[in-house]
Order: sequence, then C-alpha cells, then structure tokens
Amino acid sequence: MSEDAKKHFVKKILVIGLGQIGHSNAEYMTSLGLSVDGYDISEQAVSRALKNKVIQKKATSFRDYDYYIICISTHRPEDMFVPYLDGLMDIAIRLSHEGKGGALVGIDSTITRGTSQEILKILGHRLHVVHVPHRFFIHEKQKHGVKQTRVLGGCSSCCTTQAVNFYGNSLGIPLHIVSSADIAELTKVVENSYRFMEIAFAEELRMVCENTQIDFNELRNAINTKWNIKILEARDGVGGHCLPKDSQMFLDLSRNVLVTSIIRAAKMVDEQYRFFLTKRASSEVPLARR
Ligand SMILES: NC(=O)c1ccc[n+]([C@@H]2O[C@H](COP(=O)([O-])OP(=O)(O)OC[C@H]3O[C@@H](n4cnc5c(N)ncnc54)[C@H](O)[C@@H]3O)[C@@H](O)[C@H]2O)c1
Repeated sequence: MSEDAKKHFVKKILVIGLGQIGHSNAEYMTSLGLSVDGYDISEQAVSRALKNKVIQKKATSFRDYDYYIICISTHRPEDMFVPYLDGLMDIAIRLSHEGKGGALVGIDSTITRGTSQEILKILGHRLHVVHVPHRFFIHEKQKHGVKQTRVLGGCSSCCTTQAVNFYGNSLGIPLHIVSSADIAELTKVVENSYRFMEIAFAEELRMVCENTQIDFNELRNAINTKWNIKILEARDGVGGHCLPKDSQMFLDLSRNVLVTSIIRAAKMVDEQYRFFLTKRASSEVPLARR
C-alpha cells in the first residue's frame, strides 16, 4: 500500500483466530502499517502474536472494528478428520450483538457450502459477509503466503464490493472474484479433495509396486516424463488438518447425490497405506532390500 493510501486507512481490523493463517494475516497487515488487534481462545496464540508484535492488543470486545477477519480452525478439536463449524457460529452470534454495523466479516477459514450465507443470516446482513479461502503454505511463505491469488465470493454484491476494496485495494492481494460465496466455499473444498485424491493414487501405486517387486521411484520417474502426467511422491500418508477435513466436507456434500465417490475410495486407500507403513516399519526386512 502506498504511503498516501496508508495515511487515509485508519480503520481497525480484528483478526479472530491467531494460529498459522491468523498470525500470518496479522503479520502481513501490520507490516502494511494497518491497525490490527487479535482474538483467540488460546492464550498461547495471543501471547505469541503480542510477542511478535503482529497485533496491537488482545480484543476484549468485538465492538468498533471495521474488518473482522476469521481464521479459526474448522475441524473438531479432538479429530482433524471431522469438520466442525460450531466455533464459527458462536463467533457469528457474538458479532450479531457486538459487531459494528456496515463492517466486513471476511471468512478466511475453510468452510463448507452455505456457511457464509448462514452467517449472513445470523448477522441479519447488518454486517457484510465474504469468503476468501486461504491458500497459505507454511513452507513457501514468500510465494504462497498471504499475498497470493485468492478466490473471493461475497454473500451479496454489497459484500463483494466492500471485500474487493479491502482484500484487493488495501491489502494488495490478487483476487479471482466469483459470483457467490458458495462458489468460493466449494473452490477450497474441491482443491483439497483433488489434492487428497492425487496423493492417494501415489500411495496406491507405491503399495502395488512394493508388493510386486517393482521400484516405485523408478516407475514414477519414468511415467512423469510424460508431459501431462505428474504422479506425486508417496510419503507418510495424508497429513495436516486441512486435507482430511476438507475432503470430508466434499464427501458430506456429494453423499446425497452419488452412490459412490472417488474421494471415499481415496480415504480408504490412505488408511490402508498408513497401515502398510506401520507394518513395513515393524517388519524385519532391512530397508535396503525392500
Ligand atoms: N494452515 C494452512 O496452511 C491453511 C491453509 C489454508 C486454509 N487453512 C484453513 O484456515 C483455518 C485455520 O487454519 P490454521 O492452520 O491457522 O489453524 P491453527 O490450528 O493453526 O489455528 C487456529 C486457531 O484458531 C483458534 N480458535 C479455534 N476456535 C476458536 C474460536 N471459537 N474462537 C477463537 N479462536 C479459535 C485456535 O485456538 C487456534 O489458535 C482452517 O479452517 C484451515 O483449514 C489453513
């Protein structure tokens, strides 16, 4: 943001959820000279944000902010494979009482189809609601951090207009604007389901190879010389908290439409692969001979 634009941007931002993406969002916004406060149910997350000076203070109330950026986790605390939106709904209820009229609620967390509209309903459209799913990748923070092309879909045109102004003009994030929040929600869920499927295929191939005395890496390298094919590595099983729950969101959506699903099969393959790795680790065959 230019120095001139910065001078005029005196509005207040509240980042709700200060984990991986919330902290990075706050860090980025603060680096632009913006006024950022934070809120998290974890005191540890708040302390880290204060210590790193990415927020000015912990919010004790949700009153008087112009932008509420929601970055909380959306999986069940005790099971990362299960989507969980209760925390988000609690925040929406609190915002319906305390949120400043006309402010923007930007949902950066991954959510399933229809969630943004549900939140707009809770807020009575007194605040604007938009979904801007994050594509953050911790290991390539410069290239795939906060400032990378993001999909943006608002609940109505006034929500979209305000969000484009904030995310696009003030934060300088390149945007791909879609016609609805539903499309934005599905974008993220489908991206990660697709990724899950690609990983599961590599896992399946590796299991087949190792059970039939074929060198997986040699085969993979050979196949990947084809211009339109890229088989991934097969490592430790699908990990992190994003892919497991996001693919479950997709399955929950497709369940009523299809009898079977390639994503369900991928989840079963991944489970089998983890079992295969465990068995392999406990086997007595030295690694070099496998
Ligand atoms: N980390 C990534 O690479 C990444 C990328 C894209 C999307 N996402 C999505 O972003 C969201 C957050 O991911 P993350 O990696 O930052 O998670 P995280 O676990 O690092 O952080 C989530 C934070 O939210 C806080 N929180 C949970 N419930 C809360 C509530 N009700 N009120 C206030 N704070 C609450 C937690 O205490 C935690 O500090 C998820 O939906 C995730 O799928 C993450």
